[in-house]
Amino acid sequence: MNTLNFLKKLDVHSLVDFRGNLNIAELGRLDEFAVKRIYYISNVPKGVERGAHAHKSLKQVFFAISGSFTLKVTDGVNSDSVQLNSHSCGYFLSSGFWRVLSDFSQDGVCLVLASEYYDPDDYIHKFDEFLDWRISVEKS
Ligand code: TYD
Repeated sequence: MNTLNFLKKLDVHSLVDFRGNLNIAELGRLDEFAVKRIYYISNVPKGVERGAHAHKSLKQVFFAISGSFTLKVTDGVNSDSVQLNSHSCGYFLSSGFWRVLSDFSQDGVCLVLASEYYDPDDYIHKFDEFLDWRISVEKS
């Protein structure tokens, strides 16, 4: 399994005391990333996958704010898979990569910070089309 340089790890710092946990991540190193939208995915049944698409322009940051899930990414040639846990790290994913979210724990909640507003035209839903799109982008 390769560690792909487009998947950047973001540390989460947890301050834990008798009042509970305060979990902090700073996005300062992601110069090209400004958050325009957030969404979160929860209550995913066992065995169900989310995502399974690519974005042409959208950049995203993923956190598990409860429970855990797996983030799998590929550029069509190289693949990577990371498990996200609450109180652990997050990951920045650049645009142009196929990604799948899976293995949600019962309490798993995936928080996504997104660089753009929702745009259905930014999606590639079919893996074959994604591979063709990658080739066309690499040629241009
Ligand atoms: P989608 O991004 O395809 O998520 P998943 O691949 O996990 O199913 O979104 C599912 C639906 O929600 C789709 O019909 C578009 C809609 N949606 C919005 O309207 N706004 C948003 O910000 C997002 C992320 C999705």
